Amino acid sequence: MNHWFRSHAWANHAAGISRVNVVCDGAGGPVIGYVTLSAAQIERSSLPKARQRNRPDPLPATLLGQLAVHKEHQGKGIARSLLQFALLTALRASRDVASWDVILHPLGLRTFHAQYGFQDLPFDLRRAMVVRMIDLASAVGTG
Ligand SMILES: CC(C)(COP(=O)(O)OP(=O)(O)OC[C@H]1O[C@@H](n2cnc3c(N)ncnc32)[C@H](O)[C@@H]1OP(=O)(O)O)[C@@H](O)C(=O)NCCC(=O)NCCS
Repeated sequence: MNHWFRSHAWANHAAGISRVNVVCDGAGGPVIGYVTLSAAQIERSSLPKARQRNRPDPLPATLLGQLAVHKEHQGKGIARSLLQFALLTALRASRDVASWDVILHPLGLRTFHAQYGFQDLPFDLRRAMVVRMIDLASAVGTG
């Protein structure tokens, strides 16, 4: 993830491929964590059967692509803050440009994400997790 940040973060941000939000160590200090958001889509067939009915295919989604914290700053709640920030940002944006859910592909941390309402996508080979915007509103406390 260090490599991705150094090699691709700025270019992707500038090109509008992903928005890269960073946390710095003090004002103007080095980057110690980041989270990315992008527009995405989700295949209807990857959803639980009960949620497939009367939906377009694919469905509009928001991708939480990367979440990382510098080794020296881990264990201080920075990832939790970045995740909350990203979810609130996604939720706010969805009020102007509709998005049905937030999707991510966690490297571990499944229990952590489940605290925010993320659930496994049952038919997805990459083991993505999703949370619907409608459920997110209550999970992040914006009703
Ligand atoms: C995973 C990572 C982002 C966590 O960052 P962090 O700032 O140390 O995390 P926080 O301090 O905010 O802790 C968040 C929660 O995740 C848990 N957690 C942190 N690292 C974990 C790990 N490797 N495995 C399982 N749980 C972990 C913490 O216990 C904490 O839960 P708690 O609040 O209930 O105690 C960081 O270790 C990292 O950058 N790792 C490499 C990249 C990566 O794996 N990214 C995840 C992509 S989904």
